Parts: sequence; structure tokens; C-alpha cells
Amino acid sequence: MSAVDFNGRVAIVTGAGGGLGRTYAMDLAKRGAAVVVNDLGGSFDGQGSSHNMADQVVEEIRAAGGKAVANYDSVGTRAGGEGIVQSALDAFGRVDVVINNAGHLRNAAFDEIDDEILDSLINVHLKGAIYVTQPAYKVMKQQGYGRVVFASSAAGAFGNPQQGAYAAAKAGLLGVMNVLSLEGKQHGVLCNALLPTANSRMAAAMDPKQLEAFGAQYAAFGEQLGNAYLPDFVTPLVVYLASEACTSTHGIYSASVGHYARAFIAVNDGWTGPREAPASADELASHFQQIAEIGEFSIPESLSDEFAIIQRNFSKSR
Ligand SMILES: NC(=O)c1ccc[n+]([C@@H]2O[C@H](COP(=O)([O-])OP(=O)(O)OC[C@H]3O[C@@H](n4cnc5c(N)ncnc54)[C@H](O)[C@@H]3O)[C@@H](O)[C@H]2O)c1
Repeated sequence: MSAVDFNGRVAIVTGAGGGLGRTYAMDLAKRGAAVVVNDLGGSFDGQGSSHNMADQVVEEIRAAGGKAVANYDSVGTRAGGEGIVQSALDAFGRVDVVINNAGHLRNAAFDEIDDEILDSLINVHLKGAIYVTQPAYKVMKQQGYGRVVFASSAAGAFGNPQQGAYAAAKAGLLGVMNVLSLEGKQHGVLCNALLPTANSRMAAAMDPKQLEAFGAQYAAFGEQLGNAYLPDFVTPLVVYLASEACTSTHGIYSASVGHYARAFIAVNDGWTGPREAPASADELASHFQQIAEIGEFSIPESLSDEFAIIQRNFSKSR
């Protein structure tokens, strides 16, 4: 038996009717999971809906001998999230894995982000992941087991022009993952975030100017790139993170054109100022290089862990 095995496990993959989500659902089913293939079935920018996309992936999974049911709810409402989890319970009786993957794209320069763009991206990417994960987490807590993956984005973790609203939603998911991983660990629920890159319809819908830039970067990879822009190259990391074999929680992992790596938020040793009275802005200015340079750093595991790091730096400054 493979170390990454899903026999007896039930997985929800949102937005699994195409792109990256389809490949996750197919591989999970191949490895024995019963899969809820959720997809609203709309366009890349979140317009419209249809049953075709989810149905087609369910057919593909069943044709390959796997177990799957379709769900067509939008992740972007509380009722939709509950409906998706209920589909898993009705069809398979449990929920072991949630891969929060559903999403759409609407790019705009920062000074052109209107409420329509902001609300639609926050509702689907950020609130949507919470709407699906909350009812699933209640089931996972009772079971004492669960795995949750949040599809974030390098745009949110590192930045990308034209994607202020999208990045806000995606970076918000890192915050949700940070907290749920702390709350869930004692219940056997592990959570990680993903920074994927692959050539999907969403990637193809990027601002043409950015695609030109990507095109040049891709060209610079030359022969090295092979087929690694395909969504299937992201899948093994996601499937591993969703498995019992994975013991990582609270992690941010990048899967991009065949390269896999950990990303993290760290604090440097910084500068410890006086504690009886605050330092002046002028003192700050004279220590700013020490505050800003990366040098030695630590990766806090929580807010209180950051305090422990500050305390260690207090003693160093004596
Ligand atoms: N492709 C990339 O390079 C890339 C980079 C960073 C992050 N991501 C993220 O990965 C995820 C998958 O993206 P993709 O590239 O496969 O795009 P995609 O457009 O091919 O897939 C997204 C899927 O989500 C579905 N969906 C959209 N809104 C939904 C909703 N409200 N409810 C249910 N389903 C909905 C769509 O119908 C679609 O099938 C997204 O969250 C995306 O933001 C992708």
C-alpha cells in the first residue's frame, strides 16, 4: 500500500470542476478517497453557473473506478458551505479532508478596485473557505481527525501588481490557516496553506501585460521547464498535505512549475529599546538599519511565541 493512501477517507475539493481542483480530486479518488467534487460551474471571473463542470469530473472519477458525487453550491455563502459539507455526509457519512480551492479572478489596479470586485473576491476566496471549513471542522473535531488545505497565492504572500483585492483575500487565508492550525492540532486536525502556480484558465485570464512578463520568464527557463506548468505538477504536494502521512501543520508551501518549497513569516532579532520610557523617533531612526536588516531570524509559531522571542532578545540586549 502507498504511504499516501486515502482508503476509507472522504475528501471535499471545492472548485474541482476544472484546473487545479480537478487534478486534486482525480488523484485523491485514485488513491481511494470518496470525493465531493464541488463546482459552481461559472466563468473564470465568477459569472454564471452550470452543472457540467462538476458532473464531468465525477464521470471521469467513476469511469476510472473511483467514488465521487457532484455538488454545485457556491462556496461564497454560509448556506453553500453547509450544503457542500452536507453532500459529503449524505453520500459518505464523514469528512476527512477539505481542499479549499474554489475561486475566480478579477484584476484591477489598486485605485480602480470597486466594491463589486472587492466583495466578490473576499466572499469567494476568504469567506468561502471559512464557510466550507467551519461545518467540516465540527465533524473533524468529533472524529478526532482532519486535514485542511487552503489554496492561497504568491500574490497574497509576496505581492503581484493588479491583484490588490485578490491578494487581500488570499493573504487572509494565511491568517485563517495560522489560527485553525493552532486550534485544530489538539483535535487531530492539521492545516496548511498552498501557493500554487500552474497554467489554468485562471492563469490564462491574467492581464496580458503580466502574461508577457511570465512568457519571458518561462522562455528563460527554456528546456528546463518541460511540462511543469501543468496543474498536475501541483497535485502531489496538495495530496500529500491532505493525507494521514502528512504531520505538518501551520505551514505555507509553494508548488510552482515542478519546484516545491516552504514559505514562512519570520521576525529578525531587531533592536531592543529602553523600557522605562519609549525611544524617540530619532533614536528609532538611528537604529533603523538594525531593525530592518534580516540577519538572524526566528519563525514564531503563534502570537505568544513572538512574545517569547522578544523576551529572548531582551536578555540578549542586557
Ligand atoms: N493557477 C495558478 O497559477 C494559481 C496561482 C495562485 C493561486 N491559485 C488558486 O488556485 C485555485 C484554483 O485555481 P485554477 O488556476 O485551477 O483556476 P480555475 O478557474 O481553473 O479553477 C477554479 C474553479 O473554481 C470554481 N469556482 C469559482 N467560484 C466558485 C464558487 N463560488 N463556488 C464553487 N466553485 C467555484 C470554478 O468554476 C473553477 O472550476 C484558486 O483558488 C486560485 O486562486 C491558482
